[in-house]
Amino acid sequence: MTKNIKKNAIQVDIFLKKFFKNQKKSNLLAPMKYSTLFGGKKIRSSIIIETSKIFKLDRKKVIQICAAVECIHSYSLIHDDLPCMDNDKLRRGKPSTHIKFGESTAILAGNSLLTLAFEIIADKRFNINPKTKVILFKELSECAGHLGIAGGQFLDLSYEKRKVNFSNIINMQKKKTGKLFQFCCLAPAILSNSNNKIKKEFSILGEEIGLLFQIADDLLDLKGNKKNVGKPVNNDKKKGKSTLIKLLGYKETLEFAFKRKKLIIQKLNKYGNKSNKLIDMINFILNRTY
Ligand code: IPE
Ligand code: IPE
Ligand code: MG
Ligand code: MG
Ligand code: MG
Repeated sequence: MTKNIKKNAIQVDIFLKKFFKNQKKSNLLAPMKYSTLFGGKKIRSSIIIETSKIFKLDRKKVIQICAAVECIHSYSLIHDDLPCMDNDKLRRGKPSTHIKFGESTAILAGNSLLTLAFEIIADKRFNINPKTKVILFKELSECAGHLGIAGGQFLDLSYEKRKVNFSNIINMQKKKTGKLFQFCCLAPAILSNSNNKIKKEFSILGEEIGLLFQIADDLLDLKGNKKNVGKPVNNDKKKGKSTLIKLLGYKETLEFAFKRKKLIIQKLNKYGNKSNKLIDMINFILNRTY
């Protein structure tokens, strides 16, 4: 499994390197590359590539989508680590972007990665129907903005050191992490001109996978190893983060996640062999140690 994820990540890195190389030079390119190219599982790319198999789209058809999503994800991590947010100095086993380059540069590199995502999709070498492109722009911007990552991050920070109920925690986690995964599963359905029912089905699946991913991240914060995860551990409790673990405890959170995972896999089983690799990916998400 991890081999497959690595293989997918390498291909996305190759694409991104070329894309950066073709950009005109700027002072922000170095922090942008630092935050995207070196490290990171690129699990979202793997979700896109494996979902695409269900729609018989090959990897080459979705590489731009992968690169765009990874830029948005990296932007979200740069900002997440800032002193005004989680204030973390280590990311992917290296100094966080603001530690390496300074805060203002990190903010601007983050902004630039967010907009670069849309530039990658707009690029004429991504040769798809312009109407489909507009749909992708709309969906991706919604996942990144106030109804997605940014809105979820706002809630995450405003819920610190507060007693927050179950449905508010789930809503916050679905926004800050679930929405980008939603796009990862929805984009292949859009690219293959699927009907609205299928698009809805894959949106929900993606959001659920993202929720699972965030719960696993929270579990790793408690039980993970700093060296493996490449970022500080035992952090959420110190910061008073509102996680399911805080509300339910470790064991019950794990049980909840396994139940939720089972439901996702049940839904994917109807696609037979075509969904095998995506199911492997979902199993990896909960079993991972990094
Ligand atoms: C970490 O994401 C932040 C969350 C949304 C939980 P990843 O675990 O995907 O981070 P990298 O890209 O592999 O470093
Ligand atoms: C981050 O969640 C979610 C984002 C959308 C960036 P965390 O704050 O738990 O992510 P890590 O643990 O710092 O990677
Ligand atoms: Mg955070
Ligand atoms: Mg954080
Ligand atoms: Mg975390």
